[in-house]
Amino acid sequence: MMIYPQSKLLKSLPKQFFASLVAKVNKQISDGHDVINLGQGNPDQPTASHIVKALQVAAENPNNHKYSPFQGFASLKEAAATFYKREYNVDINPEKEVAILFGGKAGLVEIPQCLLNPGEHVLVPDPGYPDYWSGVALAQAEMITMPLKEENHFLPDYTALTDSELEKAKLMFLNYPNNPTGAIANANFFEDTVELAKEHEICVVHDFAYGAIGFNGHKPISFLQTEGAKDVGIEIYTLSKTYNMAGWRVGFAVGNESVISALNLLQDHLYVSLFGAVQEAAVTALTESQSCVRELNALYESRRDVFIGGLQELGWNVVAPEGSFFAWLKVPTGYTSEQFSDLLLEKAHIAVAPGVGFGTWGEGYVRVGLLTSEARLREAVERISKLQIFS
Ligand SMILES: Cc1ncc(COP(=O)(O)O)c(C=O)c1O
Repeated sequence: MMIYPQSKLLKSLPKQFFASLVAKVNKQISDGHDVINLGQGNPDQPTASHIVKALQVAAENPNNHKYSPFQGFASLKEAAATFYKREYNVDINPEKEVAILFGGKAGLVEIPQCLLNPGEHVLVPDPGYPDYWSGVALAQAEMITMPLKEENHFLPDYTALTDSELEKAKLMFLNYPNNPTGAIANANFFEDTVELAKEHEICVVHDFAYGAIGFNGHKPISFLQTEGAKDVGIEIYTLSKTYNMAGWRVGFAVGNESVISALNLLQDHLYVSLFGAVQEAAVTALTESQSCVRELNALYESRRDVFIGGLQELGWNVVAPEGSFFAWLKVPTGYTSEQFSDLLLEKAHIAVAPGVGFGTWGEGYVRVGLLTSEARLREAVERISKLQIFS
């Protein structure tokens, strides 16, 4: 068999840090251990039944068996605009300011290819969601990292960027509620972001994947609620987390018209569009009863309280996340994030994600996904207590 060498572009893609974690977890499972897997970000609850029913009905319709229209259904773009008006009081033109996506990841990876030439620069949060790096690599662009530090509530400190970095940057990724830190943004921060973007002609891409998950009675704010935001960027919304539809692959980008048209142009060359029945079900999700979203938020909040409260009782000085379904836990002194993850896996059979996998500034933390039942989270606390690290 011929072994065909991979292209330089493919070889330049970042290494998948978490592949080794998955292998370690699988080894523990095949050795017969009952692993509590808190290492991944896959929602554990099913999609609400009214959305599944909408898919079933739409799947029977022969119109949906044909190619769907390029750039997606007008009805889904209208639903996205209705959703933004209802949830955030933001006006969106469904024809010009919405691009339908095969999930948020697709848009995030496409955007650098839409706007950047090889060698141009992108500001990315560190720690951050690793798929930003993939998009940057595919565009042969360069990253400038923005540290997210606890002392700044895990918001980037724009005053720490040098003049030359600000001059070079063409694009900036932000993500609040944040993966992996669980931090949320405030209106002042987004106002500063718009000002910075205007001054330095940077396009802001706000990844709002966890937009529906906010605690202590605080609904996370949309970047587009900020005055002038549409002039300088877009927001990427996904149905994966809000409606437990991660496997369905549906999301959308909203905001700046020129960026939306660039996304649509690239997608015209890459795909046709999503299965029509998925698009119809997405309309149902966005426009009909939102009680499933409220229930999901309450579920994550009580899991958070059980888990974080339990760890605090053990004497582990952890901070409760304000949004997203992740908790970002400082590792005890004497361990790197990887060493501590290995310890939890080997001695307590609990899988967590080492913070360093999300960037240099993730060192010293581990990320926990609150994606299992309260009973299992209680058991995880119990197993950690037996390690007697904090007593
Ligand atoms: C921060 C962040 N952005 C985007 C996504 C992409 O989600 P999807 O492609 O399912 O829309 C995820 C998924 O884990 C995420 O954590």
